[in-house]
Amino acid sequence: MTKKKKGEDKNMGKVAIYPGSFDPITYGHIDIVERALEIFDKMIIAIAENEEKRPLFSVEERLQMVKAFFKDAPNVIVDSFKGLLVDYVAKTNAIVILRGLRATSDFEYEFHMASMNRSLNTHLDTLFMMTSKDYFFVSSRTIKEVARLGGGVEGLVPDLVVRRLKEKFKFPVTKKKQIGWDD
Ligand code: PNS
Repeated sequence: MTKKKKGEDKNMGKVAIYPGSFDPITYGHIDIVERALEIFDKMIIAIAENEEKRPLFSVEERLQMVKAFFKDAPNVIVDSFKGLLVDYVAKTNAIVILRGLRATSDFEYEFHMASMNRSLNTHLDTLFMMTSKDYFFVSSRTIKEVARLGGGVEGLVPDLVVRRLKEKFKFPVTKKKQIGWDD
C-alpha cells in the first residue's frame, strides 16, 4: 500500500499555502491564487501578523478585504498567523508554500526566505509562479504610495480595497489621471 502524503487526502486534494502581508491584497496576488487553483485543489491564504512591518491595515482589516473578495470561492481559506511560517504550515495540510515572482529583483529576497524555510523544515518546498504581465509592476507598497498621494489605483486592487485606501488616507483616490497640456 502506498503511504498517503501529507496534504493528499481524498476529501481535501492538494493544498497549497500562500503567505504574505497582503497590506493590502492586489490583483497581482489574486492572479497568482486563481492560476494556482488550476494546479491545486485548495489554497490557504495566510496573512502574516507582523507588526514590525508597521502595516497600514490591521490584520482584521486585511482579513476582511481578502475574505470579501474570495467569499464565493469554497476552495480558498483565508487565515492569519503569528510567528514562524513553517510552524503555521505544520498545523495545516499544505504540501507547498506558494509565492509570486514579479521580476528578478524579487529573486534574492524570495531565495533567502525559501532557503531559510527549507532549512527550518527540510520537507517543505516553496513553489514560485511568475506574475502575469498585466501586474508585474503592482506591489502593495506602490499601491499605498500612489493612493496616499491621490493617484488612481482602480483596476489594480479590488473595489473594496480602493474604498478602504480612500478611508485610510481621507483623500479622494481618483480615477486614473490623464496627463495633458490642460492639466
Ligand atoms: O508579502 P510579504 O511581506 O513579502 O510576505 C513575507 C512573509 C509574510 C511571507 C514572511 O515575512 C514570513 O513568512 N513571515 C513569517 C515569519 C517567518 O517565518 N520568517 C522566517 C522566513 S524568512
